[in-house]
Amino acid sequence: MSFNFDLDPKKIPVHVAIIMDGNGRWAKKRLLNRTKGHEKGAEAVRTVVRTSRELGVKYLTLYAFSTENWERPAAEIATLMFLLKKFLKNELKELQENNIRLNAIGQIDRLNLDVQEELNKTMDLTKNNTGMCLNLALSYGGRSEIIRMVHEVSKKVKDGAISISDITEELISKHLYTFNIPDPDLLIRTSGEMRISNFLLWQIAYCEIFVTETLWPDFSKEEYIKILRAYQNRERRFGKV
Ligand code: IPE
Ligand code: IPE
Ligand code: MG
Repeated sequence: MSFNFDLDPKKIPVHVAIIMDGNGRWAKKRLLNRTKGHEKGAEAVRTVVRTSRELGVKYLTLYAFSTENWERPAAEIATLMFLLKKFLKNELKELQENNIRLNAIGQIDRLNLDVQEELNKTMDLTKNNTGMCLNLALSYGGRSEIIRMVHEVSKKVKDGAISISDITEELISKHLYTFNIPDPDLLIRTSGEMRISNFLLWQIAYCEIFVTETLWPDFSKEEYIKILRAYQNRERRFGKV
């Protein structure tokens, strides 16, 4: 693969996580319905998936729907579910052609059954792909993920399968949705909000964070590469000197 993005191919983040925010504001600015913003947002997803694969990112986690997003109007939730299903159907071919495996994290059992079916089908058909893992956070919340982990771990302690002193960082990581995924190196949030919104709370302990004012539907390949360049110029110290 030729590599001429003015980036150091040896310092590409292994795992990029993105809080895709600003679809509604994008639509509002144009006096359009929020649905239009979500539709356009799905196109931006396609762009970052392609670019990540091209650059050699191994894991791309996209925050598509949070546990809090269930409190949005039913019509908007229905639109988001519809678009998710459409995305899965439309992208299968591209995922296969580019050797991308689909994974999902979150309370998947809360999603509409037809979406769950499409998701399971896509995950199954792509399970042997090794080029990149596209990880969708769906009905995901960091706190609910932690509660789920505490339940599992305490049950193991209660059953005598492990003792309290076995509870290490590694053990906790193994009981999160991301048990088979390394922690993100880079977190991008679009549309300017300086907050985490319950995303990957445990996993982002030492993640580099970039917030851009750009609204998600306007997020381009060029801007993504610009952020990666800035990431490569940062010094990651992990608490050391
Ligand atoms: C992000 O855009 C998409 C989801 C959260 C599902 P928003 O819908 O949050 O857009 P804004 O923040 O209202 O602009
Ligand atoms: C974060 O965006 C969740 C997703 C991108 C799926 P929100 O729009 O839901 O977050 P807040 O409300 O600005 O914190
Ligand atoms: Mg938002």
